[in-house]
Amino acid sequence: MFETLEDVRADCTNRLIRAAKDRKSPMHTPVIVTGDVDARVMVLRAFDSRAWTLRLHTDLRSPKAQVIAADPRMAVLFYDKGAKIQIRAHGEGQILTTGPQVDAAWAASTNFARRCYLGDGPGTASDVPTSGLPAEFEGVEPDDEQIIPARENFALLMITLTAFDWLYLAHTGHVRAQFTRTSDEWQGRWVSP
Ligand SMILES: Cc1cc2nc3c(=O)[nH]c(=O)nc-3n(C[C@H](O)[C@H](O)[C@H](O)COP(=O)(O)O)c2cc1C
Repeated sequence: MFETLEDVRADCTNRLIRAAKDRKSPMHTPVIVTGDVDARVMVLRAFDSRAWTLRLHTDLRSPKAQVIAADPRMAVLFYDKGAKIQIRAHGEGQILTTGPQVDAAWAASTNFARRCYLGDGPGTASDVPTSGLPAEFEGVEPDDEQIIPARENFALLMITLTAFDWLYLAHTGHVRAQFTRTSDEWQGRWVSP
């Protein structure tokens, strides 16, 4: 099944392609780790299998955006319980707020999804339980004019992967491989699980 390193790399590629496209994929919501040793779940929006880049969406005002701007080191953790496969990746993060990729991602969102960027920034303190949203948009989709102020808070987190560790749990014996990237080439090796 996984007899060569090329099989493993192809498995990883296929899983990440599916993870971005399929909401039901267990890898659709990886754990994203920043250089300040903090971690959180995020939705994987796209995977570019040529550049090995992940695209995620976030609020520019969120604490992680500042952390990544100062220290681009990132780790990303995926686990597919059914397939019994873990992927631990390392990469470099970049926060983008302008440019064609950001415009395209914003254009592809609905106003309902965009309204998350209309309220208070993530981590803003409150005396009462709060969604952070303006009261008039609780459960209500803003119109095209009302959504305009949200755009400046919307950011892409792009993570270019530079290494990954793949682990397959099997009764017959677990299998593990590691890959690192040098320019456009991936170098792989088998390691003991
Ligand atoms: C299933 C799930 C999906 C999430 N998706 C995102 C996301 O796509 N982008 C995002 O910024 N936060 C997302 N969050 C919220 C983050 O986990 C986190 O609470 C928030 O971004 C604040 O993180 P920070 O304080 O580290 O900046 C998601 C949380 C869950 C549970």
